Amino acid sequence: MLIRKAEPSDIPALCALERECFSLPWSEKGFEDFFANDCSRALAAEADGRVVGYVGMYLICGEGEITNLAVAASCRRQGIGEALMTELSQTEGLERLLLDVRQSNTAARALYEKCGFKVDGIRRRFYEKPAEDAVLMSRTIEK
Ligand SMILES: CC(C)(COP(=O)(O)OP(=O)(O)OC[C@H]1O[C@@H](n2cnc3c(N)ncnc32)[C@H](O)[C@@H]1OP(=O)(O)O)[C@@H](O)C(=O)NCCC(=O)NCCS
Repeated sequence: MLIRKAEPSDIPALCALERECFSLPWSEKGFEDFFANDCSRALAAEADGRVVGYVGMYLICGEGEITNLAVAASCRRQGIGEALMTELSQTEGLERLLLDVRQSNTAARALYEKCGFKVDGIRRRFYEKPAEDAVLMSRTIEK
């Protein structure tokens, strides 16, 4: 498994992962806008030439706000999500990582806790389809 920078040419694969993993997947246009933004950073996990996971964030003034993390259902529990988060945390200029996660998403919450994230608070009914509270989490990046 290889972790590398994600690029606009990965958009079809990223859209496929989004459709597999989320009830409100990012569109192709959403990814085009993301990659066109100078503050965006994204990593892809590749296995046998296929993109099986990715993570994205916007990095502004040392603060990285994670937009999404997804691993193909057939490739989960093999350390790919954790490897993506570990690599992301080594991004140059990153001082702090922030994210939000559905309250019921026990897999992602366990992963973030394992990666050192702490809960900062709850944002009521932040998500749609279905409506659900968001857990806000963050971690400081030690240099
Ligand atoms: C959350 C997600 C990215 C995890 O990816 P993954 O590659 O399976 O995670 P890893 O194998 O790296 O797991 C690392 C740790 O996370 C935790 N974890 C991951 N999946 C878990 C699960 N289903 N149940 C409990 N803990 C879990 C464990 O602590 C695990 O460490 P361990 O294997 O030593 O026990 C994946 O389940 C996914 O894509 N889910 C759908 C999309 C999603 O919810 N994204 C997050 C949006 S905020």
